[in-house]
Amino acid sequence: MTSEQPVQRSLTVNGQRVEVHVEGQTALLYVLRNHLGLKGTRFGCGLGACGACYVLVDGRPTYSCDTPVSTVVGTEITTVEGLGACDAHPVILAAAGAVLFVRSAGDRQVRTAEVVDAG
Ligand code: FES
Repeated sequence: MTSEQPVQRSLTVNGQRVEVHVEGQTALLYVLRNHLGLKGTRFGCGLGACGACYVLVDGRPTYSCDTPVSTVVGTEITTVEGLGACDAHPVILAAAGAVLFVRSAGDRQVRTAEVVDAG
């Protein structure tokens, strides 16, 4: 059985370049929370179904719980903490912020489509 060794990886999170020493299959969620201390991104189902772990990757909502960190090297990652510094269109930011806030708060009654359509 082979296991991947941790490797130094450069990420851009909330406009800041950061270095993390992790295995490539480590979920982005754990890198954000455990390595970078960005606790606004939450764990919910861990299955890519609930959206509690949403972040923006190059402006697109992405489940960080099932996104290997190796797949986001070279992208712009935005967490709920970084929405104020993001250069995206204000309407996109408002919708993304609502989704990230609602999902991070654990309110699973509001679905993403309802929040996006409200704008
Ligand atoms: S924790 Fe539920 S989709 Fe990621």
